[in-house]
Amino acid sequence: MVDRLEYRFDAAHRLIERRDLQDLESSLRTARDEVLADVATAEADGSIPPERQPLDAGFLRLPETLLAEHAKSGAASLVGRIRTAAAELREQVDHVVLLGIGGSYLGARALFEALRHPHHNELPRASRDGIPRLHFQGNNVDNDALRGLLDLLATTRDASGPEGRWGIVVISKSGGTLETAVAFRIFREALEARVGTDDARRLIVPITGETGRLRDLARAAGYPHVFPIPDDVGGRFSIFTAAGLFPAALLGLDIEALLEGAAAMNGRFLAARFGENPVLDYVAVCRCLEEEHDMDIRVLSTWGARLEAVGLWYDQLLAESLGKEEQGATPITVVNTRDLHSRGQQHQEGTRDKLITNLFVEQPATAPIPIPVTPDDRDGLNRLAGKTVPDLLAAAFEGTNRAYAEADRPTADIILPRLDEHALGELFQMLMLATVTEGRLIGVNPYGQPGVEAYKRKMGEILES
Ligand code: PA5
Repeated sequence: MVDRLEYRFDAAHRLIERRDLQDLESSLRTARDEVLADVATAEADGSIPPERQPLDAGFLRLPETLLAEHAKSGAASLVGRIRTAAAELREQVDHVVLLGIGGSYLGARALFEALRHPHHNELPRASRDGIPRLHFQGNNVDNDALRGLLDLLATTRDASGPEGRWGIVVISKSGGTLETAVAFRIFREALEARVGTDDARRLIVPITGETGRLRDLARAAGYPHVFPIPDDVGGRFSIFTAAGLFPAALLGLDIEALLEGAAAMNGRFLAARFGENPVLDYVAVCRCLEEEHDMDIRVLSTWGARLEAVGLWYDQLLAESLGKEEQGATPITVVNTRDLHSRGQQHQEGTRDKLITNLFVEQPATAPIPIPVTPDDRDGLNRLAGKTVPDLLAAAFEGTNRAYAEADRPTADIILPRLDEHALGELFQMLMLATVTEGRLIGVNPYGQPGVEAYKRKMGEILES
């Protein structure tokens, strides 16, 4: 049993032949120094040299900065203000529509799916501890999905108290992303039509950059709570800004524990020696297999059903950060055992281009369910009676790893002690640090997303022609 996130890579290490992991140690240390120099540059008041732009390295110190500010200023700190505003909204509404795309919603979704009840939205309010139902929109342009949510919200019309009300959290750093902006206009109009412009104001929380259209709109509308996404923190690195912390607080999650987990990972990144440093070791294994064996497909193989959105968050982080200049591994999220029945065949016997990193949680959040003994044993399961569902998952995990090892398929494991805020804080920070460290190692600027601008521009041209 582990008591903090552990990264285990013995099974992958066995397959790294031509070049020992140790060879990478000094270049990884240099890359880590570069990451830290980026943070210092981002924090300094001077301008960022052109060759380092864009530079959104402010995410790294956020956990410690926010925790220190909270310890000093309590309710007046950003964490304190987020908690107060989230509690206010929670008490007023039973549904919240969270609008945002990419880095502006995936962190919130990952936290929601990993840490709230799997059927949260279907439970009655009392069984949800008064926490509103959460719906994600503004991350696509799907007429039926938008209409479907508007229809659902309209059914709450006759209920009184919070059960009859809904609110909006709109998240966009730039404030100009079309998907989110259009959805905000549509839902804002529906909310204002429902409760009136004055009351709607208290039910809308924008989270945005210091400048931009959403910031201007929020100021003009006079929304009482508007939270910032700092200039020096990029969208996919913003989970520890209000973009992740406000939804987390709304969901009743322990945001201090989340930040403490992230701060603990920072400590290990800076101080743990190579071989015991989850960030540096993870990057080293990924790089060796990519460089020596052309394994440029990175499968994040999650075990159980609650980590899929964590995987989607990571897909976006890795793909947008390093998929540049014709470089960058391709991330894929897998949910096991579900996907052993869809992708398992290919991973066992297909092209040898994959590194499989398992993401496994040692203990379930709820009491283990045993397989019952039944008088009728025609399904043959009495032989397993008394074993629990976690026992089955652990056996599938262990068995799959063994099968891959026998076929010389590389695996590594990220083990979490349990699924809670602290462990997820460690994990998110580990993967963000690993991504920027790898970027600096291979000479790709991990910040910015120049390629995404092309579709936005052309979409705009078509719409305005
Ligand atoms: O990581 C990124 O920068 C992107 O995925 C953005 O988060 C995404 O494009 C949304 O941008 P914005 O928050 O400006 O609406």
